[in-house]
Amino acid sequence: MAAKFVSLLVTMFVFASTLISSSNALSLNYYDQTCPNAETAIAEAVHKGMINDKTVPAALLRMHFHDCFIRGCDGSVLLNSTVKNQAEKDGPPNISLHAFYVIDNAKKQVEKMCPGVVSCADILALAARDAVSLSGGPNWNVPKGRKDGRISIANDSLQLPFPTFNISQLQQSFSQRGLSIDDLVALSGGHTLGFSHCSSFQNRIHNFNNKTDVDPSMDPSFASSLRQVCPMHNTVKNAGSFLDTSPTVFDNAYYKMLVQGKSIFSSDQALLTNSRTQALVQKYAASQPEFYEAFANSMVKMSSINGAGTEIRLDCRSINH
Ligand code: HEM
Ligand SMILES: *[C@@H]1O[C@H](CO)[C@@H](O)[C@H](O)[C@H]1NC(C)=O
Ligand SMILES: *[C@@H]1O[C@H](CO)[C@@H](O)[C@H](O)[C@H]1NC(C)=O
Ligand SMILES: *[C@@H]1O[C@H](CO)[C@@H](O)[C@H](O)[C@H]1NC(C)=O
Ligand SMILES: *[C@@H]1O[C@H](CO)[C@@H](O)[C@H](O)[C@H]1NC(C)=O
Ligand SMILES: *[C@@H]1O[C@H](CO)[C@@H](O)[C@H](O)[C@H]1NC(C)=O
Repeated sequence: MAAKFVSLLVTMFVFASTLISSSNALSLNYYDQTCPNAETAIAEAVHKGMINDKTVPAALLRMHFHDCFIRGCDGSVLLNSTVKNQAEKDGPPNISLHAFYVIDNAKKQVEKMCPGVVSCADILALAARDAVSLSGGPNWNVPKGRKDGRISIANDSLQLPFPTFNISQLQQSFSQRGLSIDDLVALSGGHTLGFSHCSSFQNRIHNFNNKTDVDPSMDPSFASSLRQVCPMHNTVKNAGSFLDTSPTVFDNAYYKMLVQGKSIFSSDQALLTNSRTQALVQKYAASQPEFYEAFANSMVKMSSINGAGTEIRLDCRSINH
């Protein structure tokens, strides 16, 4: 009887510790003892980066999104290609991923203070939060304790949602990662920052379908201005459009434009094709505070997508040897 009870306890313990180790449980105070000034150093690196280059916050936010959607938030997006392997960052929709040097600078400062302690995946999650708050958006506490992965594969980037996705495809892409359609609406608000190349929205402004060149759900004068910067046979390198009217300010202008038919991607417009998501878009267009609160909550969820990382990388661009 006693032996049976002990063996039950052991089984429960093994089961519980498997759960914990396989979920890399995150916590707010993870580095309190081992690297108490890490967050300050990372925020400083982001701040320095954005003073020199206004596009840095958008780049960091998108980089974190890509990291979390592929293999969980494990820093896989940061790894360089090698002679043997083409990495995620060099995969098909790599267009415009940039500012990796800001993460390198943050890592360098953090390594000086506490070598081998803070993961690159955590640095990226914190830098994305700083990018938003330093652009005038909400601030939130980031749970930490992610481990860095050793795998980064170019073709994996095809698992990212495409800008041509409709609402059911978006919903599926998010739910596969434990995110709801409410998270989808809030996180799409990340498109309040940054820029898109023509190729990412040309489906809406040229040969939309048999009947019409232009997506009829797009505001006609907005469409004609996009067609001007992005002609059918565009030859201007890096031509494109900002994602909203205030691309360096984290505000709710994205939703205000969206309800007017002035969004950039089909995936943005798709948020108006479902009654629940449409109501949320209208709510965030009307209330910046409600958007901020929802965005912060959904970012914590996205930032917690579990990866299979095993190490604290010493250089964010290469696995430990
Ligand atoms: C819902 C599915 C999403 C799709 C289909 C999507 C697609 C895209 C595309 C195609 C671009 C432009 C790439 C280019 O042409 O240069 C872009 C830019 C961007 N996306 Fe998303 N995205 C999605 C969700 C998100 C999320 C969840 C975030 C962050 C919370 C985000 C943040 C950004 C930012 C900040 C940019 C601008 C990047 C820059 O200027 O460097 N996106 N997105
Ligand atoms: C993007 O990926 C392509 C391969 O699909 C690669 O040739 C190119 O160098 C990559 N671009 C950047 C900026 O990494
Ligand atoms: C690349 O990724 C796509 C989409 O995830 C998948 O269908 C395809 O089989 C992959 N190709 C290779 C060569 O791994
Ligand atoms: C979205 O696209 C998929 C694939 O083309 C299609 O099967 C599905 O019916 C579409 N859903 C909606 C809501 O349009
Ligand atoms: C486009 O046109 C072709 C032939 O005219 C027709 O068979 C097809 O159903 C049309 N597709 C759409 C989406 O209207
Ligand atoms: C990664 O690639 C960048 C740019 O291509 C290069 O400057 C850097 O030295 C590389 N780092 C490593 C560790 O491979």
